[in-house]
Amino acid sequence: MPTTTINGQTISYREQGRGTPLVLVHGFPLDNRIWDSQLASLSDKFRVIAPDLPGFGQSKSTKPFTMQSLADDLHSLLSQTSALPCILAGLSMGGYMTFAYAAKYAKDLKALILVDTKADADTPDGKAGRDKMIQTARTSGSPAIAAAMMPKMLSPDSQQNRPQLVQQLKTIMESCPALTIEHALAAMRDRADSRPLLPSINIPTLILVGDQDPITPPAVAETMNKEIKNSKLITIKSAAHLTSMEQPEQVNQALRQFLAMIK
Ligand code: MLT
Repeated sequence: MPTTTINGQTISYREQGRGTPLVLVHGFPLDNRIWDSQLASLSDKFRVIAPDLPGFGQSKSTKPFTMQSLADDLHSLLSQTSALPCILAGLSMGGYMTFAYAAKYAKDLKALILVDTKADADTPDGKAGRDKMIQTARTSGSPAIAAAMMPKMLSPDSQQNRPQLVQQLKTIMESCPALTIEHALAAMRDRADSRPLLPSINIPTLILVGDQDPITPPAVAETMNKEIKNSKLITIKSAAHLTSMEQPEQVNQALRQFLAMIK
């Protein structure tokens, strides 16, 4: 995997294919392996770039971060690798970062893809939940966080009947360093409300959501779809939060259809 130094941190990313840059940003507590199927499928027509955000996957960093610093680091990476302007996709926390990116670097974007994410900030209850999880990460480490996240990531059916997928996801989540988990939880807790940004987004936008997503449910995706002028919403069937891994064929098909319209 290529690596580069951004802001004193070693950032790793996967890159496959040629053409318009399509950047895929993972969520929490994940890394770019959640995009394996999209890298394989879409790199026939696009230059697909999937970074590991600082501290995640192979990107080693022990620094705290914010959604804004993640967006700035990503912009530096894409600028260093001559990948601007790009089509930017973010899943969940990757989507929270995408809003910070879109607010500051709109001119470097051709299109947006918002996957199982939301524009709202955390509620007071949500913030308290983040603090509790930070304590869990400190006392019990990544396996406890992975166990807490699993029931939200995949539908009950997949959890019961797809042991290989469950194991793959468990491996990814358990490999996320506990310190990165703490930093990510604090960054998500403190993120801005991006709802005021939505009416100003005027590039083509695709919104994807799992029909059983308990973290960023379909109703939230519908609200974003109403607020963003040039957006299209596609619901992924038989999927919870991690649609890119749970229903890769449906996700790839939706992405292909949308990307075919982007010049
Ligand atoms: C994610 O998948 O990135 C997180 O679960 C999002 C969140 O907890 O708000």
